[in-house]
Amino acid sequence: MIPRRTKIVATLGPASSSPEVLEKMIVAGLDVARLNFSHGNPEEHRARAELVREIAARHGRFVALLGDLQGPKIRIAKFTDKRIELKEGDRFRFSVTHPRDAGNQEVVGIDYPDLVKDCTVGDELLLDDGRVVMRVDNATADELHCTVLIGGPLSDNKGINRRGGGLTAPALTNKDKADIKLAADLQLDYLAVSFPRDAADMELARRLRDEAGSDAWLIAKIERAEAVADDEALDGLIRASDGVMVARGDLGVEIGDAELVGIQKKIILHARRHNKVVITATQMMESMIHSPMPTRAEVSDVANAVLDYTDAVMLSAESAAGEYPVEAIKAMARVCCGAEKHPTSTKSGHRLGQQFERCDESAALAAMYTANHFPGVKAIIALTESGYTPLIMSRIRSSVPIFAFSPHRETQARVALFRGVQTIPFDPAALPADKVSQMAVEELLKRNIVQPGDWVVLTKGDSYHDSTGGTNTMKILRVGDQ
Ligand code: G6P
Ligand code: MG
Repeated sequence: MIPRRTKIVATLGPASSSPEVLEKMIVAGLDVARLNFSHGNPEEHRARAELVREIAARHGRFVALLGDLQGPKIRIAKFTDKRIELKEGDRFRFSVTHPRDAGNQEVVGIDYPDLVKDCTVGDELLLDDGRVVMRVDNATADELHCTVLIGGPLSDNKGINRRGGGLTAPALTNKDKADIKLAADLQLDYLAVSFPRDAADMELARRLRDEAGSDAWLIAKIERAEAVADDEALDGLIRASDGVMVARGDLGVEIGDAELVGIQKKIILHARRHNKVVITATQMMESMIHSPMPTRAEVSDVANAVLDYTDAVMLSAESAAGEYPVEAIKAMARVCCGAEKHPTSTKSGHRLGQQFERCDESAALAAMYTANHFPGVKAIIALTESGYTPLIMSRIRSSVPIFAFSPHRETQARVALFRGVQTIPFDPAALPADKVSQMAVEELLKRNIVQPGDWVVLTKGDSYHDSTGGTNTMKILRVGDQ
């Protein structure tokens, strides 16, 4: 049986690029591999992408690839000695003109000249996700003069945010535009856009994606204060995307950690209501960078995201640069399974009392209603071209596994992110029309997912050829009766 419904996204990096480690991660349950374009070069990303696909195929697994664009993250340049230590009360300067690789105890270069224009006296700047905090005392034409409010270590290329948000960098940089082409070239399944302000930023990303010839689904990373300022802003971004990521690192810095939990729940709820997938990210298993087991607080964080009904939970440094990438995936998988046993994970009140908008959506939701209320049902089969039908199904809480039967590689990989959905390669167009349902059920029987006497709910359309959006039929089949 397929025990886990919540999907695991793990970032690849130096700690997870060898074939041995990657293989263990895939076997341990990696569903989506994240290539972080903020680090590494195109050749490293290409090598990782190829390795993931090769190992996954060898194990009969379907692992999606997600490229994460760096975006306009404002970063400091480098220090002569890689890192400095700042104390409360220290004076420090950010300079547009200072040499890029020669930061010191007093000053460091910045890659984003407009920072000086965008900041005013009294602003608080948060470095390295808020580990170091400074106040702006004075701004000259090319420097910001600051006082350190919270000291700590500061090293090469750390990010800068302003408390309250509002730094006006456009969402797609020249590097992002080049990386969109790389994503097309690597045939990535998902592309995450960093720091989008609004729907227009996502529309621009979509245009560039189309021009590059990619069909990756676009994930909006929700990480600016503006994006969650009100429901209209958030829903606008969600509607313009195929999915969202609760990017808690930068978001927490901009809106403050006190607001973060409520906003996480709201983003997940709104994404699901709009039939979009949602990933919960950042520091979920942070202590596992150096420890083979998570803290109770981390266990609780992952479990609560599962109860919020996120599609996926994500590892960043834990898997990219940590000492225990495989253990981190195992721990996440275990915690997800535990939380999925809780009744709130299996009972759905979603969209009760709401109208449906489409025929295929109605069939998909009818299938879920049946599966959740007819105890003999052990599996749901959705014959799908694009993954749309299982996406709609997976917005409903359930304990019955959903199987996306599709002949397309892109769809087989894409559904790896959808909660509760597994894929089985299947081409109905290659079969006699009157045998399709029976053969589909036999695929589950062959894999021991169902037994004779179990019930299966199956959806399909009248045509088996390229009929995206054509689902209009739900069948309830008893295994062994065909
Ligand atoms: C497959 C089935 C069709 C169905 C379609 C739905 O092609 O054979 O009968 O209409 O999937 O695809 P969708 O992308 O809308 O989920
Ligand atoms: Mg971020």
